[in-house]
Amino acid sequence: PPRVVVLISGNGSNLQALIDAQEHDRLGGEIVAVVSNVADAYGLQRARDANIDAVVLPHGEYDNRDAYDGALIKVIERHEPDLIVLAGFMRILSQRFVQRYLGRMLNIHPSLLPAYQGLGTHALALADGVSEHGCSVHFVTEELDSGPVVLQAVVKVAEDDTVDSLKEKVHAREHLIYPIAVRWFLEGRLQFSGDSATMDGVALPPYGMR
Ligand code: GAR
Repeated sequence: PPRVVVLISGNGSNLQALIDAQEHDRLGGEIVAVVSNVADAYGLQRARDANIDAVVLPHGEYDNRDAYDGALIKVIERHEPDLIVLAGFMRILSQRFVQRYLGRMLNIHPSLLPAYQGLGTHALALADGVSEHGCSVHFVTEELDSGPVVLQAVVKVAEDDTVDSLKEKVHAREHLIYPIAVRWFLEGRLQFSGDSATMDGVALPPYGMR
C-alpha cells in the first residue's frame, strides 16, 4: 500500500482521524511514521497507541531552519513515503523542503482559504462577523497557506459562537475531509498541476471542492 508520513506539533486530532480511517480501510494507504517537532505532543501517543513509528525531532536542537529541515528530510526519507501529510505541524518549511515534496504534500488549514491565512483564524473570522467559516485541504507550495485547494468544508457561524465553539465545529469538519482528500491522493485520483489541483484529470476550481 502507498506510504504516508504525518508531521504534527500538537494534539493530533487530525492524525487520529487518519488513523481511524486507516483502521477502517478507508485511507487508501498506510501511515508509516509520525514525526513531531514538539517532544510532548499528544499526537505521538496516538501514533504509539496505533503501533505507528513515532519520531521526535525537536527544532530547538538545530541552528537554523535549513539544518532542521535537512534533518527532517533524512527522517522522512527513511520511511520512503508517497505522501507527506501536515496535520497541525506549526512550522514554516524551507524552500528546499517544499520543493522536495512538491505535489506530494498536503496541509489542512482552519479557514476557507484564501481567507485568513496564518494563525488565529477563528478569532479573525469572528471579529469580521462572517456568516461562513471552515477549513481547507491544500497542496503545500512555497507561499504560506497559498497552494491549490483540494477540498473545503463550510460551517455556519452562529451569533453566539465563541473562538472555542467555532474551533470545535471546524475541527469536526477537518476530521471528515482530511481522510477523504488523503484517500483521493493515495488512489491516484488527485494531482498537483502547479496552479491548481486536478481530480480524475479535471482541474478543480480555484478554491477546490466544497
Ligand atoms: C488544526 O485545526 C489545523 O487546521 C491547524 O492546527 C490544528 C491542529 O489540530 N493547522 C494550522 O493552523 C496550520 N497553520 P490537531 O493537532 O488536533 O490535528
